[in-house]
Amino acid sequence: MNKINENYLKLGGNYLFAELKKKTEAFQAKHPEADIIRLGIGDVTLPLSPAVIQAMHKAVEEMGDAKTFRGYGPEQGYDFLIRAIIDGEYKSRGIELDMDEVFVSDGSKCDVANIQEIFSRDCKVAICDPVYPVYLDSNIMAGREVVFLPSTCDNGFSPELPDVDVDLIYLCSPNNPTGTVLTRRDLERWVDYATRKGAIILFDSAYSSYIQEPGLPGSIYEIPGAKEVAIEFKSFSKTAGFTGLRCAFTVVPKALGKLNGFWNRRQCTKFNGVSYVVQRAAEAVYSEAGKGETAEMIRYYMGNAAIIREGLGKAGFEVYGGKNAPYIWWKLPSGLDSMNFAAKLLESCQVVGTPGVGFGACGEGYFRLTAFGSRARTEEAVARIMEMEI
Ligand code: MLT
Repeated sequence: MNKINENYLKLGGNYLFAELKKKTEAFQAKHPEADIIRLGIGDVTLPLSPAVIQAMHKAVEEMGDAKTFRGYGPEQGYDFLIRAIIDGEYKSRGIELDMDEVFVSDGSKCDVANIQEIFSRDCKVAICDPVYPVYLDSNIMAGREVVFLPSTCDNGFSPELPDVDVDLIYLCSPNNPTGTVLTRRDLERWVDYATRKGAIILFDSAYSSYIQEPGLPGSIYEIPGAKEVAIEFKSFSKTAGFTGLRCAFTVVPKALGKLNGFWNRRQCTKFNGVSYVVQRAAEAVYSEAGKGETAEMIRYYMGNAAIIREGLGKAGFEVYGGKNAPYIWWKLPSGLDSMNFAAKLLESCQVVGTPGVGFGACGEGYFRLTAFGSRARTEEAVARIMEMEI
C-alpha cells in the first residue's frame, strides 16, 4: 500500500467550482437547446484592455529578437513590474514597501494555498464561514486544525475574534463570497488581535479595486502595525481581466522576520516566475492608459452588480454585497436549501449561480451571483429570475 496523504480523504467531494462546472455541463448535455447564463464562477468576460494588449505585442516582438530575448526571469518577478506595483498600488495609499517585499506570481489562488507551507503543521488556523474554499481545502490537505468564524447577516459579515488562540487568520476583503468589506475599524481589531497573540493575518485583497466608497481600506497595510503581522495577496485577475493570462502578487513584509526569506526560498525552489510577456502586460495596467481602461472595466462590472442588486431588491429579496465588490450575496427566502435552489434556478431559468453552502455551513440559505457577465446576459438573468416562482 502506498503511503498516501490521508488528509485528502477529509476533503469534501470535488473542488466547488469544478463541481459546479460539471453539473452545468451535464445539464447542457441533457438540454442542448438550453440558453444557459453563467453567473456562477467569478470569471471575467470583457477582453483585455488595449494598453495591456499593446504591451504584450511589444513584449512578444522583444522575445523574437536575439538582442532583447529573455530566458528565465527572476523568480520574484521583474523589477519593472515590482516597481510599478509599489508605485501604483501602494505609494498612492501612503504605504512604503521595499522591492524585496513584493513577490509576483501566477495567481492569488495559488499563493493563498501555498503560503501555508511556510508555517508549522501544528498551527491553528482561523477561517471565516462562508469562505473562498481554497483557504480551507489547502489547510485540510496539510492536516491543520481549523477554527471557523461565522460571518452572517447577524454580525454584518464581520466575524467575531476567535474564542480560542489561533496562529493564522485568513481574511478576505472585499469578501468572496459575501461581497462585503471590512472597515478600517474591523481591520484595526484584527491587527490588534494578531499583535497580542503573535498570530499572522493572511489578507486576501484580490477584489480591492472594486471598492467604491471612500474610506474603506484597500490594503491591510493602511492599518498601523499591519506590516508586523500581515501578508497581503492581490491579483490582476479581477482588476484587469487576467483570469486567463495569470498574474498576481503577494507582499511579505520584512517586518515579519524569517517569513520574507522563507517565502523567497519557497518561490525560488518551486516556482520559475511569471512569463516576461505577462509581466509586461501587468505593468501596463498601471500606465495612464491602463489605469483608465481598467477603471472602465470595473465600472462596467459594477453596473452589472447594481442591476442584480436592484432587481432582486425590487422583487423583495434581501441582498448583500455588490456595492464594493463584484459578488451579490442573496439571502434566500427562509427554509430554502441553497443546493436545491441552484438546481431549481438552472431548471426553470437556465441561470447558474453558486449555492451558499458550497462556501461553508454558514452559507446555507444564501446564493452567490457574480457581476462578471456581459450587460445583456446579466439583464436577461435578472429578468428571468424575476419571472420565476420562488
Ligand atoms: C470565484 O468564483 O470565487 C473565483 O472566481 C474563484 C477564483 O478566483 O479562483
